Amino acid sequence: MLFGEAECFPEGNIHGKGNLDRLIGFDAQTDTPGTGILRECYVSDGRNMKSFDRHFFLTLVMHKKRKSLWKIQDNLLNLFCSIRKTDKTFTVNIKELYDLKGKVALVTGGARHLGFDAACALAEAGCDLIITSRKLENAVQSAEKLHNLHGGDVLPLSLDVCVYDQVAQVFKAAGQWKGHLDIVVNNAGGNVGISPANLFERDPDDMAQMIMTNLTGALYCCREAGGIMAKQGYGKIINIASIAGMVGRDRRMYMRSNLKGQPVDYAAAKAGVIGMTRDLAGFLSPMGVYVNAISPGGFGPRELPPGFHKDYCDRTPLGRMGTDGKDLKGAILFLASVASDYITGHNLVIDGGFTIWK
Ligand SMILES: NC(=O)c1ccc[n+]([C@@H]2O[C@H](COP(=O)([O-])OP(=O)(O)OC[C@H]3O[C@@H](n4cnc5c(N)ncnc54)[C@H](OP(=O)(O)O)[C@@H]3O)[C@@H](O)[C@H]2O)c1
Repeated sequence: MLFGEAECFPEGNIHGKGNLDRLIGFDAQTDTPGTGILRECYVSDGRNMKSFDRHFFLTLVMHKKRKSLWKIQDNLLNLFCSIRKTDKTFTVNIKELYDLKGKVALVTGGARHLGFDAACALAEAGCDLIITSRKLENAVQSAEKLHNLHGGDVLPLSLDVCVYDQVAQVFKAAGQWKGHLDIVVNNAGGNVGISPANLFERDPDDMAQMIMTNLTGALYCCREAGGIMAKQGYGKIINIASIAGMVGRDRRMYMRSNLKGQPVDYAAAKAGVIGMTRDLAGFLSPMGVYVNAISPGGFGPRELPPGFHKDYCDRTPLGRMGTDGKDLKGAILFLASVASDYITGHNLVIDGGFTIWK
């Protein structure tokens, strides 16, 4: 049975390509796949497979091949990998680290702005994509654009992350589409409600909806994505938080430009996303699932008054706002790829240095 491709190194270590469920082991003594004694086997996230305890290992491999994998656990004699013998020492090609060919990724709110940028980065690196919008026609339009730009298959779906049943349905469809779901970017979010940002004038319903959209919705998505990925034994979840969840706002900047400003409930929701990311990373890492956050600073300029734009840039060490179409992409690719395989629970800040200045 062929689960994937692996390279056999002189020390007896393995570096494999593919998901955990497809990379199992090799015969280090006879070089014959399928017989012999497993000496060393490192799964693709770098951990020694032998060090997993029984419960963990079974959780990891429950997928479709449960029967075969039980055999490995029990006598370490039946190994199911093809071997390419090389005399290389353990090293990784940089292009391979960032190659996402064959992966399936889902980006919530992937039809526009930062979500679309994330989808573009993943598609260009080789992923097939699922993108969602609350309006199916917007997802369909952006899916066509994405396919024309980068090729690959793109599945547009409609999704309101605040409705748990929709989240469950979308992730079920996503998992079934190609039989696996490797990367999820929880990007849906942003400003909610038309009531003033001032805490004392803010409509409590808007506050609740803000938390629902930016935090609870992402949590629902993590629940469903995490479930699929835990069964696979592999997955990368990237939650889009914000620097609003890390530092307080200098509201004078908004007042000078007569802008509404940022409600406290947005900061609360995004701080929640960062906390959720850390705790979830701990919970899911024994199952081979990575969870990281990205905290962007202000991106634009979109429809901001020139005065605010200048104020914001002056307040930023790199002297500018984040650029749509460019500045998010590298972080997405990094956290989605094998390049970040020793990183989980991290909050990667992309803010031109905004949060380092006092
Ligand atoms: N732009 C910034 O400066 C900045 C800074 C820090 C963090 N962020 C975060 O980055 C993410 C994207 O921001 P953006 O600037 O690209 O925002 P945006 O242009 O306002 O887009 C928001 C995205 O979220 C989706 N969305 C909103 N509510 C949703 C819901 N209830 N269910 C499903 N999808 C929903 C929207 O999808 P549809 O409208 O198509 O349904 C849209 O794709 C957000 O989480 C935001 O908080 C942005």
